[in-house]
Amino acid sequence: MVLDNFYWGASTSAFQVEGGYGQGGKGIATTDIRKVPEGVADSKIASDQYHHMIEDVDLMAELGINLYRFSFNWTRVMGNGYQPNSEGIEFYNKLIDRCLEKGIKPFPTLYHFEMPQAFVDDFGGWNSRECIDQYVKYAEVCFRNFGDRVKIWGTINEQLIVTAASDLNGNHESDPNKRMKQMYQMSYNMSLAEKMAIHSFREIVKDGKIGPVCSMQVVYPESPAPEDVLASKNATDFLQNCFLDMSVIGEYPQSYCNYLNKKGWYPETEAEDKEILVANKPDLIGINYYASTCIRALKDGEDNSKLPPFYQNELFTLGTNNYLTKTKWMEFGVDPDGLYIGMRDVYERYKLPMIVTENGLAASDILDDGAIHDDYRIDYLDKHIKQCERFVSEGYPLLGYCPWSLVDVVSSHQGFKKRYGLIYVDRTDEDLKQCKRIPKDSFYWYQEKIKSNK
Ligand code: BG6
Repeated sequence: MVLDNFYWGASTSAFQVEGGYGQGGKGIATTDIRKVPEGVADSKIASDQYHHMIEDVDLMAELGINLYRFSFNWTRVMGNGYQPNSEGIEFYNKLIDRCLEKGIKPFPTLYHFEMPQAFVDDFGGWNSRECIDQYVKYAEVCFRNFGDRVKIWGTINEQLIVTAASDLNGNHESDPNKRMKQMYQMSYNMSLAEKMAIHSFREIVKDGKIGPVCSMQVVYPESPAPEDVLASKNATDFLQNCFLDMSVIGEYPQSYCNYLNKKGWYPETEAEDKEILVANKPDLIGINYYASTCIRALKDGEDNSKLPPFYQNELFTLGTNNYLTKTKWMEFGVDPDGLYIGMRDVYERYKLPMIVTENGLAASDILDDGAIHDDYRIDYLDKHIKQCERFVSEGYPLLGYCPWSLVDVVSSHQGFKKRYGLIYVDRTDEDLKQCKRIPKDSFYWYQEKIKSNK
């Protein structure tokens, strides 16, 4: 199927691809010094795009994409956080200009998991409203420096995951109850920061489009038992609607408010917040989707304290979906239909155009005589792109599709043992080698897919 005016893109994020630790005036980011498991690569070199930028853009051009979805590194643009860093801004100017020369639209996200460590040390990161002002200041520096050429923007990548990783971003509470309260406060502050940044965006980049990037939650009840169906509805409110409702509508779902109030976790707000939250609507929604989630009701006395924080409540817990095929790195199971189902739900609730900002298959790819034969990834991408085609053919507004990831990047927790790229980066967790770029079979497959759409 031919998709008109469609963005065929590819995705990365700064802390996972760039490296360039401490170089060009870059300040220390939370992700630079986070603890990674023994023997797992960290972000200091990552895929070394800092030194391979020209080559990477040339490979994008060879691939044929017309959109590069990446992120600005907060500490490259703002040094230790407080003042703009001209060398860092210059680095992104070069990246943006090079992309545009090759006919590739740059699509940056402002905040993809990392933030200045100084903010965590100085005022407790997102726990403080000071962080809202700093985020807006940083966003404005980006809008003013790049907004003449960059017209499509993301605000926050996966607020669900940033919220869950609240310790990385300033939540040092040891008391479990206070810790949860602080986590929900941090999320509220992020939502407010996003809206204030959109307000500035409207004034600075008058002809641009901006929106949140969500970790789309496609939630199935484990069974038709009413308690499991209700649990799945609760999960949708707590894992997705609480973020996107704030981004688009400016208020939380009622069930979320009720539960947080009951627990004493409802965030502190200020009178003038409401107006800011309701105004400043985004133009689009970025969709990150890897797999669906199966949910069931919590059993009496069941311990859920080992699950990620957003599952630590009495309203729902993780179930198992026996209808999907699981892979080594995808324990929830591969579910292309879920992409279609989830996008339909998001569209019907918010009526905004969407763009798939991440979708991909992790594997421990093996270099075989100078090539990577990743037919498993081709199969995954093909099935998910078909769901995008189905969605568009039914008249829904999908602007584009970006596989995660353009090149192999350091995964959020598993280093380079877990790869998603269309382009192999020749390094391991232990041995940096030269980070040579080697297009995989999926690169050539995607290249043909894009060509055949023209
Ligand atoms: C998304 C993130 O949650 O999933 C990416 O936006 C991340 O940054 C991707 O890399 C895959 O997750 P992981 O943990 O396999 O790297």
